[in-house]
Amino acid sequence: MEHSRRSFISFLGKASLGTFVIPPFLMSCGNTPTPTTGEKISKVTIDRLKKVLLKSINPSDIDDLVLTDGLHYQTIIKWGDQINLTDTFGFNNDFTCFIPLDENNPKDGLLWVNHEYINPLFVSGYNHRNIDEKRTKQQVDKEMYQVGGSIIRIKEENGTWNIVKNDPLNRRITAKTPIQLNWDEPIKGKHTVIGTLANCSGGITPWNTFLTCEENYDNFYGETVYDQNNNPQHKPSEYNKWEQFYTYPPEHYGWVVEVNPEDGLCQKHIALGRFAHECCTLYELEDKRVVAYSGDDTNDEHLYKFISTKASSLKEGTLYVADTINGKWLALDWENQPILKQQFKNQTEVLIRAREASKLLGATPLNRPEDIEIDPISGNILITLTNNKPKKDFHGSILKIEETNGEFDALTFGASTHIAGGEETGFTCPDNLAFDLAGNLWITSDISGSSMNKEDNPYTSFKNNALYVIPRYGKEAGKVIRVASAPKDAELTGPWFSPDGKTLFLSVQHPGEQTKDLKNPTSKWPFDEDNIPKSAVVAIKGDLIEKMNRFHLLG
Ligand code: FEO
Ligand code: CA
Ligand code: CA
Ligand code: CA
Repeated sequence: MEHSRRSFISFLGKASLGTFVIPPFLMSCGNTPTPTTGEKISKVTIDRLKKVLLKSINPSDIDDLVLTDGLHYQTIIKWGDQINLTDTFGFNNDFTCFIPLDENNPKDGLLWVNHEYINPLFVSGYNHRNIDEKRTKQQVDKEMYQVGGSIIRIKEENGTWNIVKNDPLNRRITAKTPIQLNWDEPIKGKHTVIGTLANCSGGITPWNTFLTCEENYDNFYGETVYDQNNNPQHKPSEYNKWEQFYTYPPEHYGWVVEVNPEDGLCQKHIALGRFAHECCTLYELEDKRVVAYSGDDTNDEHLYKFISTKASSLKEGTLYVADTINGKWLALDWENQPILKQQFKNQTEVLIRAREASKLLGATPLNRPEDIEIDPISGNILITLTNNKPKKDFHGSILKIEETNGEFDALTFGASTHIAGGEETGFTCPDNLAFDLAGNLWITSDISGSSMNKEDNPYTSFKNNALYVIPRYGKEAGKVIRVASAPKDAELTGPWFSPDGKTLFLSVQHPGEQTKDLKNPTSKWPFDEDNIPKSAVVAIKGDLIEKMNRFHLLG
C-alpha cells in the first residue's frame, strides 16, 4: 500500500505546527535526498524571512548569472578544476545531486555532476565549422575524458561550499570507464561496455546511489537503424564522429546508468529501455518495489515507467509506455504482446529498440518529454514537454499524470496540462524541474542557442535562459516568477536543494556556446583568469531560498 494523496495533505497540516519537517512522501521520491528534520525556526528568523519579497526580474541578455533580490551565488567548481591528483572536472555540467555522507549533517556530502557533451573548439581544438579539418585520435581521446560525470565531496563552512580536494571519494567517470550491464544476456556480445556519454539529467535511488541518463547518445557513435525488411544499417553520428577511431556499438548507449558513490562502480539498467533518456525519477513503494519514470527527449517520442517485481530491483519487472490519450500504461512485454513477437526476436531486442516497440503498441507521441518530478503534496507526476517546433509548439508545457487512486504501480492514469509555456504565463521551453522542501516548483528553461536572442522569433522577448519558481502559497501562488537569468548562450540545469533547504545547487551549462574564435568568446562567465567561458556549478543561497523552503511555516 502506498501513501495516499490524502495522507500527504494531512501530514502537511501537522508540519505547520512549527517544526521544520517534510512530508514522508518526499522521502520516498528518489529525486530528493533525505532532508534534515526537526530544525526549529526562531521568531527572529521568521520575522526576517517574512520581510523578504518574491520579485520577478526582467528578461535579460547580459552576460552574467543575474539573480533576483534575496539571492546570491558562489561558484563551487568549474570546467578544468582539479578534483584530485590525476583528475579534473569535466565539460558542460548538467544534472547535479547531493547526498550527505551523514544524514544528520546537511553540510558535508557528495555532489554528483553530469558532463553531457563537449564543444570540441574548447576541449580538443578541433574546429567543426571547418569542413576540411580532420579530427585526430588524440583529439577524440581528449574529448572522451570530458564527458560522463564527476563525484566530488563538498563541505559548507562559514556559509561557503568548498570542494574537499583529493578526497578519496572524488572521482571521474568518463567515456572510457568500463561499465557492467545489469542484464543476463550480452548486448552485441558484451556484458561490460566502454563508457557513458550524453549524460543529461538523472536521479537518485532510495538506496543512495546516483542515476545518470544517456540522452543524445547517437551524437557519438551513431545509431543502428532498420529498413522495411528489418535489416540493420549504421547511421553515422552527425557531430562527434568518434566511430572514426572507436567502433563501439550504438546499442551500448542510451541507457540509465547507476553509479555507486562508494566505489565508483557503474551499471547500465537494460530493463529501463534504450532511448534518449532525459532523466530517471524513482518512487519506492512500501514493499520496497520501485517505480521508475523516464522520458525520451526527442520530438514525438514517449514517456515510460518501469515497475519492479522485486524489492530494490531495476532489473526484474516490466517496462511500460504511456498512452496519454486513453490513460493507459502499455507493457513492452515480448512474451505477452503478439505484435512485439512478430517484429523482435526476444525481450532484449524489445528493450534495445524501445522506440519502435512503443509505436507498435500505440504509445502517444509527446513534445520532447524531459525532466520528471513527483509533487510532494499532491502525489501527481509532472513532466516537462520542452517544445515541438515542427508541430508549432514553441513554448512547451508541463504535463500532469495522476495515477489511478494515487497508486504508483497503477496501469491507468489521467493526463492533463498542468501549465503551458508562452508569453501569457511568462516561461518557455521548460526543461529541469525541482520541488523544494515546501513544495514550490522550480523550473529551468532551455531555449536552444540557435534560437536565443534572435530578432522576431517566438523566443525574442524571453532573452537569455532563466530559472523560474511557481510558488505554492501566498499572494503569488500559481504565478511564474523569473528568479535567475543565465549568462550568454548558457542554460541553467540540474537544480537540486541541499537537505536543509538552504542551498540551491545549479549548473550553468555552455556559456559562450556560440563562440567561433576562442580569442573573442561570446561569454566570459564565470570571469576567471583564463578569459574564456566555462560551465560551472554554483550554490545559490539567501533569505529568499530559506523563505521559499519554509513558506508553509510562515503563513
Ligand atoms: Fe539534455 Fe533534454 O536536455
Ligand atoms: Ca535537459
Ligand atoms: Ca529534477
Ligand atoms: Ca534540454
